[in-house]
Amino acid sequence: MPKAFSVTVNGAQVDATEDMTALAAILLSGTTTLRRSVSGEQRGALCGMGVCFECRVTINGEHHCRSCQIRCAQEMDIRTDE
Ligand code: FES
Repeated sequence: MPKAFSVTVNGAQVDATEDMTALAAILLSGTTTLRRSVSGEQRGALCGMGVCFECRVTINGEHHCRSCQIRCAQEMDIRTDE
């Protein structure tokens, strides 16, 4: 059974497990805008498999992390462009 804990998405606690991606935790939080384009348009995950780079967020202070490729970890802090 996967280990359960919580992560933080834009300051809100979200229940997560170690087999979930950060993208799954973001979507569970109700957030669908992950970043903004240079012109300010809302961008969201497209491929879900590490190809499009549209799911980039800040995780534990590290920018441009592809959230669909990173598994949740205890005390993970995820920030999107709101
Ligand atoms: S959703 Fe395409 S790289 Fe993550």
